[in-house]
Amino acid sequence: MKHLINFKDWTPEEVRFLIEKSIEIKGEPSKYRSALQYKSLAMIFQKTSTRTRVSFEVAMTQLGGHAVFMDWLTTQFRLADIADEMKYLSRNVDCIMARLKKNVDLVRMAKASLVPVINGCDEKYHPCQALADLMTLKEHKGKLENLKLVYIGVHNNVCNSLIEACTMIGVHITTVTPIINEPAQDKELLEKAKETGLYSSTLDIANTVKDADAVYTDTWVDMELFLDPAFKEQKEKRIKLMMPYQINDKLMKNSDAIIMHDMPIHRGYEITGDIVESPNSVIYQQAENRLHSEKAILLKLLQEI
Ligand code: CP
Repeated sequence: MKHLINFKDWTPEEVRFLIEKSIEIKGEPSKYRSALQYKSLAMIFQKTSTRTRVSFEVAMTQLGGHAVFMDWLTTQFRLADIADEMKYLSRNVDCIMARLKKNVDLVRMAKASLVPVINGCDEKYHPCQALADLMTLKEHKGKLENLKLVYIGVHNNVCNSLIEACTMIGVHITTVTPIINEPAQDKELLEKAKETGLYSSTLDIANTVKDADAVYTDTWVDMELFLDPAFKEQKEKRIKLMMPYQINDKLMKNSDAIIMHDMPIHRGYEITGDIVESPNSVIYQQAENRLHSEKAILLKLLQEI
């Protein structure tokens, strides 16, 4: 049985297949209207979400199935052993998507589950986001091989999954990340990416943007810390350190790269409002594509494609 925790158990062919399938499903959604009839997806959230919740729930509805939203705090997951709860839950649903604080708990969930488990974003990875990102890049450029994507921001879960997915399928990725989120560290992932010759890291933001096909950024502060008063001082320090790495008109003036952001956006921090609304911005399309690519993920894990 296959899970989607990160891409470590996935082949480049499988990742490519998901991207192609996402584009096909977007073009002809009616073909898949009954593909998951009578199937159920449990969606467990320990953290907040707009896109991940909406896209998975709508995907299940449009595929003829059903999604069950579970707020971690109102379930017995918070009281009981994760494995016991999963052994029950996976007898009642066909697939489980979870957004958890700790990857180690997600791995425990997957081990105990009788059905596929999808990572809806933990502190280390966001594989569903990376698939929608590459789908969007392919829609705009018509290909993926040998494109150059530059990720500018904090090295986090989104950055890890982008590096992993890009280097599996032939996209050059350069990161400009003066801060690395400690919990997102994954040496094995970065070593593997370096071996492909497709991954590099620099702080020379201006030069690396010059020949980029896509420039990507993300929040400088993780969602669970953004409004946390205890993180206020740390947040202010981060903003000061990161300001020279903002995506703005000055940085992008000689570039025709598409602009990407996985949302939620913090205008005036990692990116200016002008750039969000600029003609090269594909941010809202990228967010919409979560729906189409998640249909492909669900169909693949439930062996319907
Ligand atoms: N990009 C993303 O995962 O969005 P949400 O946090 O709103 O789900």
